[in-house]
Amino acid sequence: MKKVDVILGLQWGDEGKGKVVDVLTPNYDVVARFQGGPNAGHTLEFEGQKYVLRSIPSGIFQGDKINIIGNGVVIDPALFKAEAEALAASGHDLTERLRISKKAHLILPTHRVLDAAYESAKGDAKVGTTGKGIGPTYTDKVSRTGVRVGDILHNFEAVYTLAKSRHEEILKGMNFSYEISDLEKTWFEGVEFLKKFTFVDSEYEINKLIQADRPVLCEGAQGTLLDVDFGSYPFVTSSNTICAGACTGLGIAPTSVGEVKGIFKAYCTRVGSGPFPTELFDTTGDKMCDIGREFGSVTGRKRRCGWLDLIALKYAVMINGVSELIMMKSDVLNDFETLKIAVGYKINGVVTDEFPYETDAVIEPIYKEFKGWNCDINDIREYKDFPVEFTNYAEFIEKECGVPIKIISVGPDRAETIFR
Ligand code: GDP
Ligand code: IMO
Ligand code: MG
Repeated sequence: MKKVDVILGLQWGDEGKGKVVDVLTPNYDVVARFQGGPNAGHTLEFEGQKYVLRSIPSGIFQGDKINIIGNGVVIDPALFKAEAEALAASGHDLTERLRISKKAHLILPTHRVLDAAYESAKGDAKVGTTGKGIGPTYTDKVSRTGVRVGDILHNFEAVYTLAKSRHEEILKGMNFSYEISDLEKTWFEGVEFLKKFTFVDSEYEINKLIQADRPVLCEGAQGTLLDVDFGSYPFVTSSNTICAGACTGLGIAPTSVGEVKGIFKAYCTRVGSGPFPTELFDTTGDKMCDIGREFGSVTGRKRRCGWLDLIALKYAVMINGVSELIMMKSDVLNDFETLKIAVGYKINGVVTDEFPYETDAVIEPIYKEFKGWNCDINDIREYKDFPVEFTNYAEFIEKECGVPIKIISVGPDRAETIFR
């Protein structure tokens, strides 16, 4: 049976998906994004260069691979143009290698304004979105009033104008003032630019590739704990970030899913509002943030940092049926005397090992402590060379999750990767 592999984040995003997809791409012929949009920021580093991808799959740097943007993705033509042009300027022209689903939805300039208006109306209860119009675009998709890539080919002005006028009515009702003429101009230039690419029915495209035995890697964005159904709702994104999202976001049958590769950081970060049981508010958290350079690749916001949360990780492993774990940013913990992993939660005096429904639950994490390895692991390239304190930490995680850690990352560069 022909299979596709899925790679996705197990925490609150920014686990290092971009790096790992790039590293694994030589094993595949096709890399396909299945959800999210320019709220994502996937960083890749090699040969002294750093690239941040938002809507374009992270397989784009590894030779002549096919890259697909699936129907589950939302695209902002203005941001897409800027991203693709920057890549072309650095010698990575995508025109022949990227295919875009006609069923992917377009983020309109007014979607971005609506995102800002809704956030502003929420005041202190705001989600802390990336401000890219993600929520309003998926809202229109589900409300059956969205604008799709395929519309560009048919009666586009009318479809656009109708959607825009609906948004304007909402914004008028909210008394939200805005100015979009410049944004609209760049947006329409983006729409013209998009026409250079091949629009496809990605479900046929990808299933033909699967039938032809061409190995496919599906790339997730965000992370499981930001999933619209299973994350800490309402502090989530607006798509299904979990493995099932690869099926609905590309048109792949569940029976076609092979390996599910789950990525996690050796600690935790979160950007935006919402629960984070192991968050650190002290100098230890600041140290993780500094060493890990934990600032959002899209918004530049400081990421909240804390210890690894095994309750959350096991939840993500369960929801996704993870078959292989990938541990990232291990080097960030090089210089800590003691490391902690949350192995339980105490909520109102009751101990649990389940992620609670309530986002306002006061959670006291129960920690297991580990002796830190206290040395530089960045140059290690073989698992056998890791210090015992490191292998104790990693092997505890895989034992608890019941899934092997197959890849360990010890630095942002492609080369700083250990396979087991
Ligand atoms: P993504 O959204 O999941 O692709 O992750 P981001 O690119 O937003 O954030 C991960 C950050 O960590 C990027 O700046 C990467 O260059 C960096 N990174 C990835 N792996 C490692 C690692 O093993 N060690 C260190 N120190 N940095 C890493
Ligand atoms: P990558 O793919 C981290 C967070 C936002 C906010 C919430 C909703 O790089 O891992 P949205 O703009 O999606 O409506 O924001 O989700 N968020 C991310 N956090 N990494 C991401 O993507 C994120 N994409 C969205 O900060 O809390
Ligand atoms: Mg990111």
